[in-house]
Parts: sequence; structure tokens; C-alpha cells
Amino acid sequence: MPTAIVTGASRGIGRGIALRLASDGFDVVVNDIVQQKDHIENVVSEIEQSGKRAHGIVADVSKQADVERLISETVKTFGQLDVMVANAGILETTSLLELTTEQWDHVMGINLRGVFLCYSMAAGQMIKQKTKGKLIGACSISGYRPSGKAPAYCTSKWAVRGLTQTAALELGEHGITVNAYCPGSVKTDMSTVFAKRLAKEQKDANVDEAYKTSSHRKNALNQELFPEDIASLVSFLAGKDSNAMTGQTMICDGGMYFTYLLCP
Ligand SMILES: NC(=O)c1ccc[n+]([C@@H]2O[C@H](COP(=O)([O-])OP(=O)(O)OC[C@H]3O[C@@H](n4cnc5c(N)ncnc54)[C@H](O)[C@@H]3O)[C@@H](O)[C@H]2O)c1
Repeated sequence: MPTAIVTGASRGIGRGIALRLASDGFDVVVNDIVQQKDHIENVVSEIEQSGKRAHGIVADVSKQADVERLISETVKTFGQLDVMVANAGILETTSLLELTTEQWDHVMGINLRGVFLCYSMAAGQMIKQKTKGKLIGACSISGYRPSGKAPAYCTSKWAVRGLTQTAALELGEHGITVNAYCPGSVKTDMSTVFAKRLAKEQKDANVDEAYKTSSHRKNALNQELFPEDIASLVSFLAGKDSNAMTGQTMICDGGMYFTYLLCP
């Protein structure tokens, strides 16, 4: 069986990707930080109950030693590594004028250094195995246009797009493809943080209502996006149907990008 690692997979989009890749036939490593240990085990059980194989590994993607262990334990458990989904990310909604260097470094450490470590170490393992492989990174619609008052987050996602392109150029000769996905607004714990800020700005006590009616999440299809929608795109990027694609960063947002251009 091919093996996939999904980082930040104990909840939200990562959980959706882990479940989808398991149903696609991958052995799946479910990664997240120690605070999410119980949730990691829940996702592992969910996959195992469907008759597939999964293994949970606690690791912080911003730390080199942790990512090294994530990969070595994966290979020890399932024999090889075929797909790395560098999904883990955090949102920081502090404005440029108020952002501290500590907040900036924290976002970059997880959203950018984490993707760099996952790409480079997974590629090293694939080259060692002498197999082809697929690296897939989490970008965002914020990697294509700014979201107000999230300078560190947007910059980290723009950088993931650049890293994805340069890695694709370098790794092509090894048969490794590198692509990224850009969700629009998907209802998860992360987007709830954004919703809370909006509600505060609009002096609206109802966070759900503020989020629903916000122009920030309008899309051309006028429909809500779920982790499964993003998991479908990642399934394509992880499978053979995308074998001729590399260096791409694909938006899956219900047309939010274009709606935003019309109604900033
Ligand atoms: N939800 C959205 O609307 C949206 C939009 C655009 C992009 N994204 C991107 O999609 C990815 C998943 O987002 P989500 O909405 O599911 O977020 P989420 O907050 O629900 O889940 C992110 C997961 O990453 C984990 N994580 C955080 N730091 C980590 C670290 N250092 N090491 C390992 N795991 C870590 C968290 O514990 C959490 O389980 C992120 O990269 C995010 O930037 C999300």
C-alpha cells in the first residue's frame, strides 16, 4: 500500500484529507501536536474502523528533529513514504501595526518552516527509496490576495506558493511532484477565530451570524465549503491523475476569489 503523512490532521481540513486518502487506499499517518493527542487517536480509530490502516504520530512541524522522527517512524511503521501533505497551519489576525516579532516568527515557524521541513525531508526519503513521490502543501486564497489584518499569515501563504514552485523545479528530475491547495473559507476551528474577530469589529455578539453574512466569505457558488471539498482536491493531487502536474497552487474556494474582486 502507498503511504501518506498528513500533518495537522487531528481536526478540520487535515482530518478530512486523512479520511479521504485512507478511503483512496493509502496507509495514513495522522500527525498533530501533543495537545491534540486524543483527537489524533480518534481519527486513527475512525480510519481503522473503516478497515484501513492508520498510525498517529505526535510531532511539531516547526521543529526539525520532530519532522525527522515523523518520517523515520512512518517508514518504520509502513515501510515507505509516497505522499506528504504539509497541511498544519495557524492563523494570526493581528494587524501590521500591532504585530510583534514573536507573533511573526511563530506564524512563519509553523506555516512556512514547517512546510519547508516537510517538503525537504520527505523528498530526501523518497530519493533514498528511489521511488516517485508527491509533496502537497497547504496554501490559502490568502496566498493569492491579501486578507485584511493578517499580514504574517498572508505572507506565509504567499511564501508557500514560491517554495512549491522552486521545489517543483528542483525535484522534478527525481520524479517528485510538488503542488499546493488553496482553500477559500472552510468552516473549521481556524475560520472560527476569523469569525470572532469579524464579530468584534462589527460589534455583533453572534459570531456565527457575523461569519455567515460577512462579505469576506461570499463566493460565486453561494455555498458553504467543507473539509471534504478540499480533501477531494488533495486526493487528485495525491493520485495518478495529477502525474503530469507540478509547481501548481490550486484554488478551491467556490469562486470566492472572483467575488472578492467584485466586492472588496
Ligand atoms: N479553514 C479555512 O478556511 C482555511 C482557508 C485557507 C487555508 N487554510 C489552511 O488549511 C490548513 C488547515 O486549516 P484548518 O482550517 O483545518 O485549521 P485548524 O486550526 O482547524 O487545524 C489545523 C491543525 O494544525 C495543527 N497544528 C498547529 N500547529 C502545528 C504544528 N506546529 N505541528 C503540527 N500540527 C500543528 C493544529 O493543532 C490543528 O489540529 C492550514 O494550513 C490553513 O492555513 C484553511
